[in-house]
Amino acid sequence: MSKYASARAPGKIILTGEHFVVLGAPAVAAAVNLYAFATAQSTSGRRLKVEANIPLSLVGRDENKFQPDTKELLEPFRLAARDSLDYLGKRTRGVSLEVDCQIPIGAGLGSSAATSVAIIAATSRAYGENLDKKQICQLAFGPESYLHGSPSGVDHATSTYGGIIQFSKPDNVKQLRLDKLPSLLVCDTNVHRSTKRLVGSVVKRARRDTDLFKSHVHDVSEISFSAVRALKRGDDRELGDLMNKNHELLVEIGVSHPSLDRLVTAARRAGAIGAKMTGAGGGGCIIALCKNDEAALKIGSVLRRVDGTPYMVSLDPSGAVSSTDGGTALK
Ligand code: MEV
Repeated sequence: MSKYASARAPGKIILTGEHFVVLGAPAVAAAVNLYAFATAQSTSGRRLKVEANIPLSLVGRDENKFQPDTKELLEPFRLAARDSLDYLGKRTRGVSLEVDCQIPIGAGLGSSAATSVAIIAATSRAYGENLDKKQICQLAFGPESYLHGSPSGVDHATSTYGGIIQFSKPDNVKQLRLDKLPSLLVCDTNVHRSTKRLVGSVVKRARRDTDLFKSHVHDVSEISFSAVRALKRGDDRELGDLMNKNHELLVEIGVSHPSLDRLVTAARRAGAIGAKMTGAGGGGCIIALCKNDEAALKIGSVLRRVDGTPYMVSLDPSGAVSSTDGGTALK
């Protein structure tokens, strides 16, 4: 008899350390309450069926020739399901999946990682296995590698564990317990791009300019460790300065974009304590550290006037969650 299960997994923002985390620096990242949902039905044949609802309005403008084709979008999801079945020893079985991703695609918010994580959690649950977070995170590496070439693992670790994490390697993830959560605003440039291309170009440059990148990795490691201390102390001034410094380094290695720099400058002028691009860059989103939620609303309305799309997000504390009750509890 076939069984159903559902799962959801959150998107993410990176507070410090993107790109340099691929080269060995730690990163600090937070899960946010934008979700990918997956419903899985176990089937007797080996067939994998994936139906994905990915609203095109969330794909964004095509300024950087970012055209996600259907195969490119669906293949990692098929891999996530196949790897999960293999891991469970169900090589001869299949799964029918319905995927609903409500996270903007190609915007640096971890949509693909969250979708893979939700698929792994739902598929395994449909086969009666409640995988732990470490197992889910390990399985998500395959589909993320297909998409990003050489991912650090920070996107799917954040989506799996939830909350705010200090990430060094997939087997070195620390969840931070904070007394006070920072008030963060996310704003989309609506210019979307391919993470694989951007990560590949940074890795290539790092192989050429070894000394320069060694020094950058050192600086970003300091930034991430200091950001963890600032978060623990609730020191927004220090955290904001660190975010600004991190943005300058990302500009220097060429992964920012005029649309990102424009929003970062506008956010700081409108009162943000710190602002930076988040994720792979080349477009996508910025994050701005705000004094409080009221200030975030005001900064958001200023950013809207310079063509940004602000998202009022809050922290997701849970990461991947799954259920076998039809999934209503997850929505
Ligand atoms: C993408 O969200 C983060 C990058 O550092 C890539 C990775 O760590 O896999 C750009």
